[in-house]
Amino acid sequence: MSLNPPISNWPGQVVWLIGASSGIGEATAHALHAAGARVFVSARNAASLERFVRDHPGAVALPLDATDPAAVKAAAQTVQQAGALAVVMYCAGYYKPQRADSFDLPEMLKHQQINYLGALYMLDAMLPHLLAQGSGHISIVSSVAGYRGLPKGLAYGPTKAALINLAETLYVDLRASGVGVSLINPGFVATPATAQNDFEMPALITASQAADEILAGWRKGEFEIHFPKRFTRWMKTLRVLPYTAFFALTSRLVKNEAAAPTRKTP
Ligand SMILES: NC(=O)c1ccc[n+]([C@@H]2O[C@H](COP(=O)([O-])OP(=O)(O)OC[C@H]3O[C@@H](n4cnc5c(N)ncnc54)[C@H](OP(=O)(O)O)[C@@H]3O)[C@@H](O)[C@H]2O)c1
Repeated sequence: MSLNPPISNWPGQVVWLIGASSGIGEATAHALHAAGARVFVSARNAASLERFVRDHPGAVALPLDATDPAAVKAAAQTVQQAGALAVVMYCAGYYKPQRADSFDLPEMLKHQQINYLGALYMLDAMLPHLLAQGSGHISIVSSVAGYRGLPKGLAYGPTKAALINLAETLYVDLRASGVGVSLINPGFVATPATAQNDFEMPALITASQAADEILAGWRKGEFEIHFPKRFTRWMKTLRVLPYTAFFALTSRLVKNEAAAPTRKTP
């Protein structure tokens, strides 16, 4: 049973992706443009967005900092003038490893601002429009790192857990309104964000494969779009482990990391 109205007929559909100057967001924008959608792309790097627009005729660049609510609102108004919105995807993200023994408040807050508050600014700007429209779809990119507390994830993990809870609650609240909600939980995807990793990332996929998974999830009307399954299913088993078993496993991971200190949270 589909939890959302399936979306597959893209020609002419208005889509807005925030966090589309690189990686998963850019690859998804590319796939949507290839499918015929009218693509609006946002992020801070205006030069990357302009390059995207040059390579994708008809696409529109709306550079912004997702932590600036006025900028998000102004861009939302431009998107809204383009007509009925099919999908808004919040993909902006930031990750720096952090542990409790090197607690860094500014970094904690930076993760909150980009990963979580930016999503709230998008909702503040888009929800009234979508509710008035009685259709459309909100997609929130979280991570399997939000399932449970993981080593080095002190700053990143809680923001992704918050996004999972936010998307679930949005789905519950919006179900009867005609507005769909999906939660995107990637495993490891090769992007600028993961390029700094110097260990072998399990089940690593390309950004273009991630985009294919996302479009397939929308087509099937899924609520949670998680991929690649060979990795995310394993992460889901962690989610249901009792704390004794879970902490035994994570302390083994920490010991392994002490031997190979570069492991990173997806
Ligand atoms: N790659 C993975 O393995 C993986 C796994 C799980 C989840 N994710 C999530 O997937 C999303 C995309 O990440 P990615 O891997 O594709 O990394 P990425 O290539 O670094 O993309 C991050 C995007 O977020 C944008 N962004 C960052 N701060 C922003 C801000 N303040 N305002 C507006 N845009 C901002 C970046 O653009 P600008 O720098 O131009 O602003 C960029 O377009 C993130 O939410 C990440 O947490 C990734």
